[in-house]
Amino acid sequence: MRIIIDGVSCESAPGEFVKTVADRNNISIPSLCHHSALPGLAACRLCVVEVTPSGGKTQVVTSCVYPASDGLEVSTKSERILRLRKTILKLLISRAPKAEGRLKEYCEQYGVVDSFKPADFDESCILCGLCVKACDELGNSAIATVMRGIQKQVQTAFDEAPHECIGCASCAKVCPTGKIIWSQDDGSRTIWNKCFELVRCSCCGKPFATSEELTWLTNKSIDQNIDLSLCPTCRARKTAKAAISPVR
Ligand code: SF4
Ligand code: SF4
Ligand code: FES
Repeated sequence: MRIIIDGVSCESAPGEFVKTVADRNNISIPSLCHHSALPGLAACRLCVVEVTPSGGKTQVVTSCVYPASDGLEVSTKSERILRLRKTILKLLISRAPKAEGRLKEYCEQYGVVDSFKPADFDESCILCGLCVKACDELGNSAIATVMRGIQKQVQTAFDEAPHECIGCASCAKVCPTGKIIWSQDDGSRTIWNKCFELVRCSCCGKPFATSEELTWLTNKSIDQNIDLSLCPTCRARKTAKAAISPVR
């Protein structure tokens, strides 16, 4: 099956999301709440595109959840889409004027500077839900959205250091606005008001994970041969070495 994105014919599986097909073909569609491992949120609306199904009408859809169909034509940068994307960015940055990360970069790229909120409005979360989904998918559910309306925010239970948290920082890494602050020094990592001691790699000696993360990995790991005393770099080096060693 094939779809046409910005004039480029792209191979696609039936039902595959348009954004996934575009990503695979290096066609860039701006997005904030989409992560290839955590699809389906469709909260930010930034990934809008125009689609025209074979023999159908043109409409605006969110490409991260719109399924491809044979002969579908997609436009990611029409005048209408660029105008819409700019408006969406304006609304997002108004909700989160202190945002950093990808949201700030997109605003710069699209020339969006003004915000409807006063300069002292201290918010950087667009409530996309990606952090909560990441933590839920890991099976930890240490954070959630709490309160309602303009007071809605991502928090831990009772705003306390969550005992379910393993200090993996996945929530912070997927956040598109830099809202979730974490820090790490030579021996510890702090996130959500909880301080974790870091375990050192048995080969290079660098601190690389919290012991809670390693316990989690031990419990979840399908491959029991993974050496969790090694950091990812040393582990990859060891695997590469084993792959090129002559078979005795
Ligand atoms: S750092 Fe804690 S809250 Fe964040 S994803 Fe990991 S377990 Fe969840
Ligand atoms: S903290 Fe970041 S990832 Fe979580 S909802 Fe807010 S913007 Fe999204
Ligand atoms: S990336 Fe599609 S709605 Fe956010």
